[in-house]
Amino acid sequence: MPKTATKPGRARSRKKSTDAGIQEVPIRVNVNGKAYAVSVEPRLLLVELLREHLDLTGTHVGCDTTYCGACTVLMNGKTVKSCTLFAVQADGAEIMTVEGLARDGELHSIQKAFGDCHGLQCGYCTPGLMMSTYQLLLSNPQPNESEIRKAIAGNTCRCTGYQNIFKAIRVAAEKAKGAQHGDQVFR
Ligand code: FES
Ligand code: FES
Repeated sequence: MPKTATKPGRARSRKKSTDAGIQEVPIRVNVNGKAYAVSVEPRLLLVELLREHLDLTGTHVGCDTTYCGACTVLMNGKTVKSCTLFAVQADGAEIMTVEGLARDGELHSIQKAFGDCHGLQCGYCTPGLMMSTYQLLLSNPQPNESEIRKAIAGNTCRCTGYQNIFKAIRVAAEKAKGAQHGDQVFR
């Protein structure tokens, strides 16, 4: 599956075919604030676009059954499992990946909380969990226990037993308290 041009701000590519004769589709996406114009095969998954074409490898693939949530990203402000969407379905969308959390070399408070609370062991599930936490705290900065459980129900951790993940989310929620409802910039 050949890579195609992915430079930020590059003009939309004309339709072209791969060596296998599959016609590529030009799409535009904005990922973590950068605009990309890319040509992709219709079968390309969003997670493959992020990892293999845009080199954003923080988004993981942990299953092939839409089960684990390691691939969770935000699309237009809502969590999606990027293994379950085709890249062409993201045409025109705003995507946020785990790489979008840190700013100017400073970790986001969610990232700090996961580290401080030992909310990870192998770390494979962690990017997806942090994106689910981010969306939860944007819409509900003071979630109760059952709201936290519901928000991360689509994310599987095979190592931690979850207790320190809950602790990390509660600590991050303390930081989010000051943010206004729907605030896109809580750090
Ligand atoms: Fe497991 Fe997407 S990789 S749900
Ligand atoms: Fe290993 Fe969650 S820390 S899967």
